[in-house]
Amino acid sequence: MSFDFVERALKDLKEGDLYRTLMPIDGPQGPRVRVSGKDVINLSSNNYLGLANHPKVKEASIKAVESCGAGSGASRLVSGTMRPHLELEERLATFKGTEAALVFNSGYHANLGIITTLAGREDIIFSDRLNHASIVDACILSRAKFKRYPHCDVNSLERILKDSKGYRRKLIVTDGVFSMDGDIAPLKDISMLAERYGATLMVDDAHATGVLGNHGRGTLEHLAIDNPDIIQMGTLGKAVGSFGAFVTGRKTLIEYLINRARPFIYTTALPPSVCAASIAALDIIMQEPNLRDELWNRSGFFRGYLNNAGLDTLMSETQIIPVVIGNARTALTISNELLEEGIFVQAIRPPTVPEGTSRLRVTVMANHDQDDLKYAAETNKRVVLNKIT
Ligand SMILES: Cc1ncc(COP(=O)(O)O)c(C=O)c1O
Repeated sequence: MSFDFVERALKDLKEGDLYRTLMPIDGPQGPRVRVSGKDVINLSSNNYLGLANHPKVKEASIKAVESCGAGSGASRLVSGTMRPHLELEERLATFKGTEAALVFNSGYHANLGIITTLAGREDIIFSDRLNHASIVDACILSRAKFKRYPHCDVNSLERILKDSKGYRRKLIVTDGVFSMDGDIAPLKDISMLAERYGATLMVDDAHATGVLGNHGRGTLEHLAIDNPDIIQMGTLGKAVGSFGAFVTGRKTLIEYLINRARPFIYTTALPPSVCAASIAALDIIMQEPNLRDELWNRSGFFRGYLNNAGLDTLMSETQIIPVVIGNARTALTISNELLEEGIFVQAIRPPTVPEGTSRLRVTVMANHDQDDLKYAAETNKRVVLNKIT
């Protein structure tokens, strides 16, 4: 087989400034990381609460390796469910205040599993245009009719719900917090539409779990929505600082997913130590609300500083702060310059974001040093304004 087409595709990516490379870092994920032997401020991690390197989380993980070993052996339906998996699911259901929970190996797996199990050829899915790629892939894989509505536009959503007749079931899917824009879905309106038009609502709370709401339960808590029929997916590799993902909802839903969700059934389960780390992190999330205060103070400062400088951060309301640049090459150049000045922030380019909206995706952490953030905000302002005006 010839790989000419691969060479050509790679060349095209390079010429279009869309080529991606892996940036090696040394040591743990923290508010600072080591890149090429240099200590830099990390504005690129989803470890929002700093739990990935928390002593209690590490200790729980090490203890679980000692008591349960390194691996889980097989799918939970084959080699048996280890105690840490069950305990994690019980804790997640309590944390979210739902009937039950089921753990998946990643958010990507969870979205694939939930959506392809709930929707098939005779069904229709309504998905926000800026939903995460794993939702898009899941919708395509489900073979359901797939309709995308303009970002957060409830009037358009209602119009297409009204026009969609003759389907067996309707599923509305939206991110709670949008991963590249940092804004929050208008879930009150969307959940009303779901009820009015007999649709199931699923929320991907990957970036809201642990951070939004007084108890960190996520977008529904933040917006004071209490509806046990809403399906909530969340991840454990972001604010929870560990790895994996989960879905919460009705007991019958969980029972059905255990029996039908292929990305749950046909894969080796998470290592027990990963589950133990998540349990320890959930304890911290529940016991230390001040971590969320720290995160909001820092995020508010950073966004406010950039906005006062006239930089466009879209509709961000959270710890994810996009700095829109436009052109992919300029975004890359700015990212490289910032690294030279001691700031690690990735340029996010198409297809991750729409054409012409390449951006720096700044993520703030609860344990960022305040002086580091001040320096990062000032340097961002100087470097960005120098390039785009
Ligand atoms: C909104 C959203 N959903 C799902 C995922 C996938 O989660 P994971 O990284 O656990 O696979 C991500 C990850 O980036 C995400 O941003």
